[in-house]
Amino acid sequence: MFTSPPFKRADLIAVLTACRDRTLALFGDVTPGEFCQQLHPDFSPLGWHLGHIGFTERLWILEHWAGVDLPPDPLRHLWAADGLPKAQRQQLPDFATVAQGLKEGRSLVLAQLQRDPEPSELPLWCWLLQHESQHNETIAFLKQYHRGLPVAPRCAPLPPPDVGMVSIPGGRVAIGNNSPWGQDNEQPRHWVEVEPFWCDRFPVTHGEYQAFIAAGGYQNRQYWTVAGWEWRSQQGITQPLYWQEDLAWANHPVCGVSHYEAAAYAQFVDKRLPTEAEWETVAGYRGTTTTTYPWGEGEPTANHGNFDGNIGQTTAVNAYPLGQSSTGCWDLLGNVWEWTASPFAPYPGFRPYPYRGYSQAYFDRQHYVMRGGSWATRPWGLRNSLRNWYHPWVREICVGFRCVRSS
Ligand code: AVJ
Ligand code: FE
Repeated sequence: MFTSPPFKRADLIAVLTACRDRTLALFGDVTPGEFCQQLHPDFSPLGWHLGHIGFTERLWILEHWAGVDLPPDPLRHLWAADGLPKAQRQQLPDFATVAQGLKEGRSLVLAQLQRDPEPSELPLWCWLLQHESQHNETIAFLKQYHRGLPVAPRCAPLPPPDVGMVSIPGGRVAIGNNSPWGQDNEQPRHWVEVEPFWCDRFPVTHGEYQAFIAAGGYQNRQYWTVAGWEWRSQQGITQPLYWQEDLAWANHPVCGVSHYEAAAYAQFVDKRLPTEAEWETVAGYRGTTTTTYPWGEGEPTANHGNFDGNIGQTTAVNAYPLGQSSTGCWDLLGNVWEWTASPFAPYPGFRPYPYRGYSQAYFDRQHYVMRGGSWATRPWGLRNSLRNWYHPWVREICVGFRCVRSS
């Protein structure tokens, strides 16, 4: 239901409602202080995300799609992505007021929705759902960032994962996504040439990463790039942001690492980060084509991986046998995002949608692609082809990595 395109009016209403219910539920335990306060300088306050979700729906659906003449919104400049700097988004109406704005916007949207969407309209609805989903994820990880790490894993312990690498035959592989879910940066689907390589079966775990810390990896310049070493030294970084000392977390993926740390660890073990084309090949490999999910085309369920806030924290990397790829790799979708070696760049023939600022503004070689989604990713953001991107120093998100080695 969630991940087939909403062809029917009733499907569309159901997914819009399901997405919105979670948005509101995330605020159930947010205090008025947390609502307005900027919890980290790189991110907007939680309450801003809520107002921005409503603003975006009014702008793209009511104004652009339906052509409704709305009364001028005095807070437009506050909620717009290109309005105020993040630090100046802290004077917000209270939750009830912002939520009321979302509710009124949504009832106007539903009033405009009197028929099934045309095929040409599906990308807009799919984009809108993904937009709200992405802000859901940001709200979820900022709450955890602010409140601190869970003390104990919520899931029962498992035997250690059978870590190791699998051989990936290279070749000419189709990547990207032309379906209504595919965002502008996933299109057009196109051929890439991938050399044969070896890929880690699992994301790097706490247990593995501990060896890097113990070996003085954070004190030893040889593993780091110039930019990475500078960042590490200036920030005085000695471990991942969401590092867990307790051995109960040994089989959980490392979480809260910068791209610099991921690349340094890969260097330490004589491996490297995968390119995003390699990652997508590993995840969907079927000869010359790639599937939507590691397991094929079936809709993701709670048995396929740790996503959608089902667990609310990381799980052991070997918790989801049904999530395996045909190549024998685990935990590709959900749990933690995975950094790749690829700067965020357009695919050949890229066309901005729905606006240049969505993807194109970030094709600056200063952002790196991460793949695979996290424990906080909503179903609409979970697929092999989806590209997420951040500056290499960002580590507040739920991000880890896996390594590869050229054959
Ligand atoms: C792709 C997750 C980096 O949250 O800043 C949300 C997505 N773009 N609204 C972000 C996005 C516009 C974006 N990320
Ligand atoms: Fe946004």
